[in-house]
Amino acid sequence: MVESCIVKISRSIILCLGLLLAACLPARLAKPGAATPGVAPATPASTSAIQETPTAASTPGANLPPARTNFPSCEPAAGLLPFKIASAQAIEKPTDAPSMRLLAKQHDLFIGTATDPGYLQNDSAASQLLAREFNMLVPEVAMKWEIIHPEPERYDFSRGDALVTFARQHGMAVRGHVLVWDLQMPAWVTNGQFTRQEWMQILCTHIKSVVSHYRGQIYAWDVVNEAVNQDGTLRNTFWMNKLGPEHIAMAFQWAREADPNAKLFYNDNGGEGLNPKSQGIYALVQGLQQTGVPIDGVGMQMHTSLGGAPPAIELSANMQRLAELGLEIHITEMDVRLQYSTSDNETKLAQQADIYQQVLSVCLSVHNCKAFLTWGLTDRYSWIPGFTGKPDAPLLYDKDGVPKPAYFAIVKLLANQ
Ligand code: G3I
Repeated sequence: MVESCIVKISRSIILCLGLLLAACLPARLAKPGAATPGVAPATPASTSAIQETPTAASTPGANLPPARTNFPSCEPAAGLLPFKIASAQAIEKPTDAPSMRLLAKQHDLFIGTATDPGYLQNDSAASQLLAREFNMLVPEVAMKWEIIHPEPERYDFSRGDALVTFARQHGMAVRGHVLVWDLQMPAWVTNGQFTRQEWMQILCTHIKSVVSHYRGQIYAWDVVNEAVNQDGTLRNTFWMNKLGPEHIAMAFQWAREADPNAKLFYNDNGGEGLNPKSQGIYALVQGLQQTGVPIDGVGMQMHTSLGGAPPAIELSANMQRLAELGLEIHITEMDVRLQYSTSDNETKLAQQADIYQQVLSVCLSVHNCKAFLTWGLTDRYSWIPGFTGKPDAPLLYDKDGVPKPAYFAIVKLLANQ
């Protein structure tokens, strides 16, 4: 009881401090001006051939050129069938102990994780754990360009379809990941030599084909991923090179045309607290909104480590100012690396639990923070050891699927204890 009061009081303090900080930010960052919060209506699709448009130079996020929302459009690739699920029955499986998903429901929160059909097919304990504890999933790689659109005229939806089917069979929502990103792109795109008009056609057809295939099945799409530098300027990405900063507005427009009901997100890492990057992201999404680009939310990836997490007060202020724009916020890819700490294992796991709890606590205190996802189900499936070359244990469950202190910290918070 006393503990519950303390948790509630600390959440309120974080929220108040967050509001205070947001109010102290420069006016151009703190308020959305005359923009109407929420989703701007999509411009009707035009089927005319894509025309050349001038490219603007790389621009700091805080000083973006005006975006347009009437870019020439395209049709999805011919012959693709929309994805239909034979028995799309949403079921809430009863569980013995309160699961994260049951507790999260009381908070109107999606609790999710990244996965791949390969993991689920080969590990029935993992797939049971996923269905029991989570009510949202995101494909870790299955919907990336290299996999889903490996050749110009060939789409392979098999892995994405398997995950969407799993999700629907277990009453889970799906985040679509990802439409515009530099990594895991097929050679036919990265080595391609095309005119600007052809690049627009390629990007438009990819987005409209993939999003149309999953129309009605995806809660939210990561439309554009990691387009901002640490200093808040736009990154010199593949699509920035080909189409300039306008590619961001184009991607949102085409995604909205293909599925008017999916929420469209900008997703990034390192802009969770208050820093030049999060200011650049704020300016970017505010600029998109003000020019009628259909953006609905911001994903905060939250790949972090012991000692590296953003201060709760900054995370709160940053979420709050995005929420004030009417945007939904998701923690999209959280993991907490242990490998840089020299403490004993028990201490590391306790500190990891605190970080997970703190981030979730801020999310619960901001009304528009609607989803909290980890980047991998168990430590066995984390991308971190492969990436850093060192063992690690950044997730909620150990390699054998045994819940760690971080799991219990989350359950406790969700249960308001
Ligand atoms: O599946 C192939 C396999 O057939 C091949 O033998 C092997 C050789 O390298 O590669 C395998 O593909 C790898 C794939 O993961 C599947 O595990 C790719 O090389 C590897 O690049 C890919 O890494 C993924 C990375 O994104 C790039 O797509 C990671 O698993 C995934 O965790 C990571 O996720 C990203 C988010 O999408 C965006 N935010 C950051 C996050 C972490 O980098």
